[in-house]
Amino acid sequence: MNNRPSSQKSIVLIHGGAGSHRPTPPQIECLRQALQEGYALSQATQPALAIVEHMIGVLEASGLFNAGLGSFPQLDGKQRMDASIMEGQQLMAGGVASLEGYVHPIQAARLVMTKTDHVLVVGRHAKHLAQHFSLQRIPRATPSTQIRSPAPKHALIKSRSFSLYKKMGQYETVGAVALDLQGNLAAGASTGGVPVMFPGRVGDTPLIGSGVYADNSSGAISMTGLGESIIRMGMAKWLAVLLKAGYSPSRAARQALGELVSRIHGEAGCLILKSNGKFTIQHTTPWMAAGYWNGKGPPIVRDRFSARHSFHQPNS
Ligand code: GLY
Repeated sequence: MNNRPSSQKSIVLIHGGAGSHRPTPPQIECLRQALQEGYALSQATQPALAIVEHMIGVLEASGLFNAGLGSFPQLDGKQRMDASIMEGQQLMAGGVASLEGYVHPIQAARLVMTKTDHVLVVGRHAKHLAQHFSLQRIPRATPSTQIRSPAPKHALIKSRSFSLYKKMGQYETVGAVALDLQGNLAAGASTGGVPVMFPGRVGDTPLIGSGVYADNSSGAISMTGLGESIIRMGMAKWLAVLLKAGYSPSRAARQALGELVSRIHGEAGCLILKSNGKFTIQHTTPWMAAGYWNGKGPPIVRDRFSARHSFHQPNS
């Protein structure tokens, strides 16, 4: 039965990371493809959660981003991935951290949400879960699946790691938010971490309230950037609180990203979407590959957004 309220419209937003590297044309094209598939699912009355999972899955499987197949390795040469997903009606959420060997950490995150009583499962236990549900394994390295940007093994990670990450400035975490035809929101993100990291390092992406948050009564948020700074400021939940207090998405992003920079010299980008269809895409970094589509005209995908390029489209 299609019980969609007649005036409800769907919208999907996606990002392929914020950083100091200009997104490549294949990355931009992949984001466009994911938006098209996500919007088509929304028109087929799929829930926001399934739409977000699907769009992120497209980017994870592409090998073009720091997520899924294309994840950066940690200093021991192993890819360990983080992901989380959340829906805005019941505030159900799931995440995995330090997952090895699977193409779609976002699917594992959703399984944590739907098949367990937990919110976060880590390491080999996350792997067992992925194995149990027969998720797609990463094949042995071939020329096309070789790990991108292997981390320099000699890199020194001491108290200077924060500035080292910033110097490298390549994050490429992926994420998405969606509003479905039932008026529900969802958000998610998936990552291989940062270019140089200790084995076992976990960033903001699998942490509900840091990298991801969704609540129909406030908004859906997906973060990208320097995870350590995003965690310290509790960005996603903070943005949700600002939205609930009446801030527009654009004003909330300016406020929180501004403080992230001024207080701790953090770096981040965000997608923010409210259930009335208003949204913004903002970042503190030189570039952020991202886009949106509400079915009007072609999908919009850009390699950077600025406050000037914040979008506030009422859902009508
Ligand atoms: N934002 C992704 C990470 O820091 O791991």
